[in-house]
Formats: sequence, C-alpha cells, structure tokens
Amino acid sequence: MTALVIAMDGPSGSGKSSASRGVARALGLRYLDTGAMYRAITWWMLHHGADLTDPAALAARAGAPVLSIATSPETPSVTVDGTDVTAAIRTAEVTGAVSAVSAVPEVRARLVAEQRALIGSGDIVVEGRDIGTVVAPDAPVKVYLTASPEARARRRTAELSGTTVEAQREAMARRDTLDSTRKADPLVMAADAVELDTTELTLDEVIAEVLRLVKERT
Ligand code: C5P
Repeated sequence: MTALVIAMDGPSGSGKSSASRGVARALGLRYLDTGAMYRAITWWMLHHGADLTDPAALAARAGAPVLSIATSPETPSVTVDGTDVTAAIRTAEVTGAVSAVSAVPEVRARLVAEQRALIGSGDIVVEGRDIGTVVAPDAPVKVYLTASPEARARRRTAELSGTTVEAQREAMARRDTLDSTRKADPLVMAADAVELDTTELTLDEVIAEVLRLVKERT
C-alpha cells in the first residue's frame, strides 16, 4: 500500500495549522509543521547573531543547527540544539525574519531532505508552502488553502496580543510577497491541488471538506 500523504499548502492565516492538526487527529495520523522548521532555523540564526541581510552568511550556517521535531498533532514541538523553541519561534521577531531565511536555497535543501526523511513511508499530514510542489509531489491528496486578506488578518490578530487587523494585514502581505516571489521553491499552488477557500467556512467545515477529499482520492 502506498503511503497516505496529505499535503496542506497555502499562505499564513489561511487556516492550515488548525485544519491540518484536525485532519491528523480525525484520521489518527502524524502531523508535520514544516513552517516550524523554517522558524526554528530562523530562531537559531537570530540567537547566533547571523546577518539576515547576507544570504551567503545564512547559507554558510544552514547546516549547523540540529533540529528535532515531534510529529504529534496533540503536542507538536520543536527543539534546536537541544533547546525547546516551540514558543520562541512564534514571536514577532522570528515571524518578521523567517522569509529571509527560508529564501536561502541551502536552508531549503537541508530542510526539504529532512522533511522527506520524516515523511518516510508512513501516513502523515504535512503543512507548508511547497509540500505538494516540491517536498511530496506524489502525495495522493493535495489541498491549497486560501482566505481573503481580511479573514486571514482577523484570524491572526485573534491569536496574538498587542496588534491590529491593519498591522497584520500589512505584515502578511509583505510575507506573502517574499514567499511567492523568491527564486527557490516559491509559494504556488500545485497543478493537481484542490483549492479550498476558507473565508466563509468554520474550522469543522474545513476539516470535513479535507476528509471528504481524502475519501474520494484514496
Ligand atoms: O507556516 P508558517 O507561517 O509558520 O511559516 C513560516 C515561514 O516559513 C513562511 O512565511 C515561509 O517563509 C516559510 N516556509 C517555507 N516553506 C514551507 C513552510 C514555511 O518557505 N514549506
């Protein structure tokens, strides 16, 4: 039997994380948050004073941090060089820096290889930006989640404190532009992905729709 890989791609605030974890829970599958891996490397670069405006410097250190990521949908966690950075990778500082680090081809090559190893031959839900296009192009189920900029900004603002919908909309637009215009593995929808606009859907409706697709395609 071939492995059931469910690729969940899309921009931030599209509802990927909650939906991916919900689908993994419903099907009893593992869950891999590839964004957490890019964030952990970014945390390490900041922690070690790397110059984020110097791609060559980032490339030279791309292989140094030792990452470990748990693939449970209940308690996803990530450590770098043995330090648990599960909370630290969600700060505004890391969020503001991650697109510069994730645009470096050496960082991507390293993480894509680790993601493929983690996916291995087992069933898993994987969320990110390039899962259906690069990491797991043979995944039998590929979903590309979208939502209106307003809905995405509202969701993100509700998760964070001390920010406004307007500030979030601007920050997301900046990150979208960087993620979708970079040379290495930009954010694009795979030709064979199913686009799911979550603007008017509840989380349960999004999960139900993905489960329906899984049933249809497997
Ligand atoms: O999903 P999340 O917002 O945590 O991802 C953080 C950043 O990591 C994205 O803005 C993007 O720059 C990068 N990323 C990526 N490829 C992935 C997952 C995340 O480039 N597969």
